[in-house]
Amino acid sequence: MKILVTGSNGQLGSELKLLSALYRQFDFTFIDVEEVNLAEEVSIRAYFADKHFDFLIHCAAYTAVDKAEEEVALAYAINAGAVKTLAEICLEKKIRLIHISTDYVFDGEANQPITETVQPNPVSVYGKSKLEGEHHVLSILSNAYVIRTAWVYSSFGKNFVKSIRHLASQREMLGVVCDQIGTPTYAYDLASALLQIVDAIHRGQADEPGVYHFTNEGVTSWYDFAYFLVQESGLNCRIQPISTAQYKTAAVRPKFSLLDKSKIKATFAVQIPHWSESLKICIDKLNQGA
Ligand SMILES: NC(=O)c1ccc[n+]([C@@H]2O[C@H](COP(=O)([O-])OP(=O)(O)OC[C@H]3O[C@@H](n4cnc5c(N)ncnc54)[C@H](OP(=O)(O)O)[C@@H]3O)[C@@H](O)[C@H]2O)c1
Repeated sequence: MKILVTGSNGQLGSELKLLSALYRQFDFTFIDVEEVNLAEEVSIRAYFADKHFDFLIHCAAYTAVDKAEEEVALAYAINAGAVKTLAEICLEKKIRLIHISTDYVFDGEANQPITETVQPNPVSVYGKSKLEGEHHVLSILSNAYVIRTAWVYSSFGKNFVKSIRHLASQREMLGVVCDQIGTPTYAYDLASALLQIVDAIHRGQADEPGVYHFTNEGVTSWYDFAYFLVQESGLNCRIQPISTAQYKTAAVRPKFSLLDKSKIKATFAVQIPHWSESLKICIDKLNQGA
């Protein structure tokens, strides 16, 4: 069975590449912007013209949340336009699409874990462009999966964990936002869940297309996440709680984005570690220079 993964240089794509070694029964192809420029429809169509895959795990995206407020057209081209083209190709070539989306499709006004039935209402260009991408997937394909995740980090790529470790090794004090609540996602755990899902579909064990939520277990703020990270990393830096109002960013972020994972756990029997346990594993990898 042939699986194509986009965004292979990104956090999630890199973890999928690592884990693919455990799934010898599948034939993986990993691509990034060098092979296909998602901002150009002709580039996407040219790539698929003479190829066939059984599954497409679409990890690539325009992920620069603040920059998207300026680069609106590019964000929409990659997060919505390219997704429409990919969904059309999947329909034509009978490829099963697993599309990755975000908690930023929500406005942050909820006060309980957000299920897949909650109405999205994005408050940033990034969130709006990703929601448009979801709509394309779900309107073109009846057998696709949209997996929303949040606060992704990994030993690969650029992310909050690596930035905080870097800054904390250089400064005595760091201010981190304490009034945005959610759950981090170790990209390795998401990659592992995605491959379990593909395997379950392939074996005919479970197959219920639609929208799913996935993060690690637990709940935290960016402040508590950073505090735990700095403690566990053995860094001597004081983490100071600050408010969102004190930390101005171009894009508005949801203040509450705790995703409910009941559906993915019930459907695919996915075991999800607590965020603190996964963060310790990532810290170990980073300490080993991974
Ligand atoms: N990061 C988060 O906190 C977060 C949170 C919620 C949801 N998500 C979603 O999770 C998925 C995976 O995110 P991630 O953290 O792995 O992202 P990432 O590390 O930023 O990787 C994104 C990948 O997309 C590629 N890409 C960007 N523009 C492209 C283009 N024009 N053509 C082809 N490839 C292009 C990037 O390539 P280059 O690096 O070479 O440009 C990179 O390999 C995305 O759908 C994202 O929206 C992420």
